[in-house]
Amino acid sequence: MKIETIAIHAGNHIDETSKAVIQPIVLSTTFERAADGTYPSGYIYSRSGNPNRTLLENVLAKLEGGADAASFSSGNAAGMAVFQSLLPGTHIIAPDDMYHGLRNQLKNLFAGILTFDFIDVNNTEVLQNHIKPETGLIWIETPSNPLLKITDIKKIVEIAHKLGIKVACDNTFATPICQQPLALDTDLVMHSCTKYFGGHSDLMGGVLITKEKNDWWQKIRQVQEMGGAIPSPMDCYMLTRSIKTLPYRMRGHVQNAQLLAEFLEKHPKVERVMYPGLPSHPQHNIAKQQMTSFGGMLSFCVNGGADEAKRVINSLRLFTQATSLGGVESLIEHRASVEGPDTKTPFNLLRVSVGLEHIDDLMADMSQAFG
Ligand SMILES: Cc1ncc(COP(=O)(O)O)c(C=O)c1O
Repeated sequence: MKIETIAIHAGNHIDETSKAVIQPIVLSTTFERAADGTYPSGYIYSRSGNPNRTLLENVLAKLEGGADAASFSSGNAAGMAVFQSLLPGTHIIAPDDMYHGLRNQLKNLFAGILTFDFIDVNNTEVLQNHIKPETGLIWIETPSNPLLKITDIKKIVEIAHKLGIKVACDNTFATPICQQPLALDTDLVMHSCTKYFGGHSDLMGGVLITKEKNDWWQKIRQVQEMGGAIPSPMDCYMLTRSIKTLPYRMRGHVQNAQLLAEFLEKHPKVERVMYPGLPSHPQHNIAKQQMTSFGGMLSFCVNGGADEAKRVINSLRLFTQATSLGGVESLIEHRASVEGPDTKTPFNLLRVSVGLEHIDDLMADMSQAFG
């Protein structure tokens, strides 16, 4: 089946009792046992499993072409489950511009348990020099947040797998509509469902999707069930509902982002634009090979430094100054000021989550803000 069909059908099922076309939200935390003590429905207690979560995990696994999916209460909870599933002493290699929330999680919560290096994973020599006997995981994020750097997924997987190292890819910026890392042989895909899957800036969620149901996956499932950072039935329902329109929303995001990137690149007040769909992007050729389209996120640096960047933000009327991304409304953010002192983000950089408003209105707003 094509991805549009999967998005609509794989997360829904007609209720057998009421014949409701859309699945009911099952709020019950517990499920009745049969006389012999077994659980005929397959459900026991909602932390272990719930019908809305089963449907959500089914559609998420199918969208990424995975064997199984485990959903969480946020993207960071999904990332944390990966790190908690590793043996103490495991070494992780992660990008130097890894999403700052997960970088801070590693540095603050896992120091002394795991070891890690944040490096330029695209530099093969640097990568190989950092691999140790205890390296168990290479974490990649492509396109990266907020520099939109592209990592060559196939190349990383080749290097890692020769040495028995697992590869996990944060695919939040791309979504499975634009890029499918499991098809390029990564072991795991992670998403913040808070972003494009939710799509309306009104829920938090996260997911891990595995290529194979192996021992590592069993451990991740244990972290999910025993740790209990699960999404509520209502959030699972809201997510499966939003996912039905994901392929069509992504088309709009991609189209608007490409046009806005081209517009900004020509603007005299813009120093440079970071968008993988632009031929000027340093890894445009890798992006073309591994992505089917280039996503809805872009960053740009404003001539005149941080003060001018902040002036532009405050002059915009349609783009809301707020963190997060992937909603139907356009958001813009001065990224360096939220990322903390070890940020790699230039101070004149603005990150844009390009929404689904008409592109003419978005360009007109940018024009008036630049003055
Ligand atoms: C690329 C990326 N990964 C992970 C996360 C964490 O997701 P959440 O905020 O749902 O915990 C985010 C959030 O901004 C993100 O942008």
